[in-house]
Amino acid sequence: CGIVGYIGYRETQPILIEGLKKLEYRGYDSAGIAVHTGQKLEVTKTVGRLANLENRLTGEPLYGTVGIGHTRWATHGKPSDVNSHPHTDNSLKFSVVHNGIIENYLELKEELVQAGHRFLSETDTEVISHLVAVEYEGDIVKAVQKAVRKMRGAFALGVLTEHEPDRLVAVRYASPLIIGVGEGEKFIASDIPAILEYTRDIYILEDGEMAVLTRDGVELLTIEGNPIAKNVFHVDWDLMTAEKGGYDHFMLKEIHEQPKAYRDTMRGRISEDGRSVVLPELKVTPEHLRGINRVHIVACGTAMHAGMVGKTVIESLARLPVETDVASEYRYRSPIITPETLVIVVSQSGETADTLAALREAKRCGARVLAITNVVGSSVAREADDVIITLAGPEIAVASTKAYTSQLIAFYLFGLYLAQTRGTKSEADIAHVLAAMDSLPEQVEKILAQAETVKGIAEAISKHSNLFFIGRGIDYAVALEGSLKLKEISYIHSEAYAAGELKHGTLALIEEGVPVIALLTQEDLYEKTLSNIKEVKARGADVLGIVNEGHEAEVAKSVDTHFAIPRTLPLLTPALSVVPLQLLSYYASLALGHDVDKPRNLAKSVTVE
Ligand code: G6P
Repeated sequence: CGIVGYIGYRETQPILIEGLKKLEYRGYDSAGIAVHTGQKLEVTKTVGRLANLENRLTGEPLYGTVGIGHTRWATHGKPSDVNSHPHTDNSLKFSVVHNGIIENYLELKEELVQAGHRFLSETDTEVISHLVAVEYEGDIVKAVQKAVRKMRGAFALGVLTEHEPDRLVAVRYASPLIIGVGEGEKFIASDIPAILEYTRDIYILEDGEMAVLTRDGVELLTIEGNPIAKNVFHVDWDLMTAEKGGYDHFMLKEIHEQPKAYRDTMRGRISEDGRSVVLPELKVTPEHLRGINRVHIVACGTAMHAGMVGKTVIESLARLPVETDVASEYRYRSPIITPETLVIVVSQSGETADTLAALREAKRCGARVLAITNVVGSSVAREADDVIITLAGPEIAVASTKAYTSQLIAFYLFGLYLAQTRGTKSEADIAHVLAAMDSLPEQVEKILAQAETVKGIAEAISKHSNLFFIGRGIDYAVALEGSLKLKEISYIHSEAYAAGELKHGTLALIEEGVPVIALLTQEDLYEKTLSNIKEVKARGADVLGIVNEGHEAEVAKSVDTHFAIPRTLPLLTPALSVVPLQLLSYYASLALGHDVDKPRNLAKSVTVE
């Protein structure tokens, strides 16, 4: 979601709308603004694109010089008019925009309902406006501080009250927020581009900090109320760069957003003691999950590759037979589907026509369908029986990166959930995997810090027109994704092979200088893959090995170049090993001068068969 706020001397409505336009990349399923007219708070909000809100406001403008606005990417509650922000309390005197998730909102809501509060929406945010109203004793800053102390999760907030037309309060906790400082006017926003037209002087809030904005000043405090000092950051880049958060392309930005996407997708889904998975969003009963006897995973493109990792995850954790199918095949091949089959469809957009058709076919045959998707309210999310939302945030580059890795996280969580429900893994085993998952975001950060190394390798690879990816087991699934990524954006032809299969035909294509990218992250298959590397080396291949830390010296004897990923459990390596491959295709595409974010012939979401 994106939030924006203004207090100053100009009419606020156009400033809020223009700001929201710059934040639409953060979500665009509904939007709204609240404005203090001088007498009272007025709110206009509507489901759909920002253009809908704009149309409505053109007919009935809101006049005033203080306001907050929001563009939504639904997480709690489907996109609808009532679920849109800003949210208000029952007295309509407090208005809140929020980006993030309040993990304990159900608990808080229950208490408020018992105290007589009425709720209109299904959102976690509405709880905040009620809490602030409850805590208000004539000082909005204190009320917000008290309310925030009760909340757990991630939030960036803009809060406005009818009682105090000359103050706007902003809070940041694990969701981004910046403050813009102008002459006689101040701003809040989720991201710099939203306010860059008006000021280049900003404060970047850190977690646990808040700001009180008046027309003439900004007071910076901790959530506890202690004053803090901060330097003004002067923005010297232009608007085009800013929308990409300083990155040259959305794809690079999204690759770098993966640690956050991992954290967000895990947040609230692991018990506080770290020993079990909690998926409150699932409606399916434990009895039903104990009764299923096979799993089908169905998807297209990159999502299919996540599904192939999912197969290994579910088979090894829950000991259930899993088949994977590309959606366009599944729907026409009369798959054997019974009520004891669980069908998992995976789709970033939730709108892919083939995947949707496969979902409908599975339901028609009486199977229960679980969707793993990145878009709340999408067709797939609406039609599936159960939904696990990946919290990767909007993905704009056509080549999928953070959505894919978030799908992996969803598979790990669901695989563990199945295992604990079906009793195929002990609590200690589950805790062991969860502890390793907890380290993944930091480990990805370590890989990202070596982007320059990958860039050098990519530039060398970009000079070739043909190459191969090989791997065994789960590494093979990652090899397929690495190869697809490279093809999509660099247009270099590559093939992914199960390392042991290469010699049964394709080895004929290996000649002097052909690059082979070999994944060797599975310790039990390490020696086997090493033998396959020897086979291609003997025919002149130029091999890049992706290995676990600790194997560098040894693998250096067999390969030309190597890249090491931090140590994790064998099942979790895809969440790390794919990252250098994403960077590799990005930098290869860049070196070749292609349109990285919008490759030829492709679309982000394919809604035709
Ligand atoms: C399109 C995109 C691919 C994507 C596939 C499935 O072909 O170009 O990047 O993997 O659709 O999309 P979905 O939204 O269902 O994950």
